[in-house]
Amino acid sequence: MDYIKRFAEDVREGLSSEPKYLHSKYFYDEVGDNLFKQIMELEEYYLTECEAQIFKNNKDKILDCFSNDGKVFDLIEFGAGDGMKTKILLNHFVDNKVNFNYIPIDISKSVLTHLTKDLNSILPELVIKPICDDYFHALEELNKIDYNKKVILFLGSNIGNFRGDNAIPFLKHLRADMSSKDQLFIGFDLVKDPRVIMDAYNDNKGITSEFNLNLLDRINNELGGNFIRKNFSHYPSYNPITGETKSYLISLEHQTVWLKGLSQSFTFEKWEPIFTEISQKYSLRDINHLANHSGFRVEKNFFDNKSYFVDSLWHLL
Ligand code: AVJ
Repeated sequence: MDYIKRFAEDVREGLSSEPKYLHSKYFYDEVGDNLFKQIMELEEYYLTECEAQIFKNNKDKILDCFSNDGKVFDLIEFGAGDGMKTKILLNHFVDNKVNFNYIPIDISKSVLTHLTKDLNSILPELVIKPICDDYFHALEELNKIDYNKKVILFLGSNIGNFRGDNAIPFLKHLRADMSSKDQLFIGFDLVKDPRVIMDAYNDNKGITSEFNLNLLDRINNELGGNFIRKNFSHYPSYNPITGETKSYLISLEHQTVWLKGLSQSFTFEKWEPIFTEISQKYSLRDINHLANHSGFRVEKNFFDNKSYFVDSLWHLL
């Protein structure tokens, strides 16, 4: 199915459900990519800074763990974005004349073009082989063409966007495409003071609110909707028992929205929520559980100074 049909079907399904929901993967159009970049620079959004600190403070140790006795390895990144954090490692590896290929995988062509250009100019010695595809398809294709050791990066706590049980099938699928010498290096945002977490999803400048509301603009633009964005309000929540950080758009009045592209209207009650995103927070116990239930073993954990975030290195069980 082509992308726009998929989008239309997902929106139809989500807005017909009880409670209503929309997929957070649709946040990332051009405007959304830009807003997310702004989020990463926010004082309140500690995740990016913490992960960058982990890389800066542990680059030698991380290289020790990845390195393949001088033999070439593939450093594969899922959803590389602008690669800001990854650059810290890439820089260090290139400085140390490490024999590796950097293979960013992303579904967005423009993201990859940007990243490749940028890396070519600042690190001309880096061997970069971008793949524009979905993660698993790209990985399966790679397995056909080389037998290099693979280190897969899945950073930024992107795993947190999977609802509760869906992370395990994803990780199991990933494991099935890995061999015993391969490693997964995966970022998790840890449980912490609930106020710190709430602030990260409810910043002062309102960028996160814009980021959520942009989804309604996107539906208006691409599916001919007539959402009025001021009739909805961004509302984040954190549940310290489950670690679930969920965002909603709350309908501020009783209203009906028409989506031309679906030939369908949707009614919202006053105060009715649309669930838009989960950003799961993890305890170390949760992380061990996830690893063990998807066929992995935790080899080593790397923390920032405040232990807000962990990059966890996994092997096959
Ligand atoms: C990119 C999925 C890790 O969930 O923290 C940032 C996206 N949402 N602010 C996250 C996001 C609201 C982010 N991830």
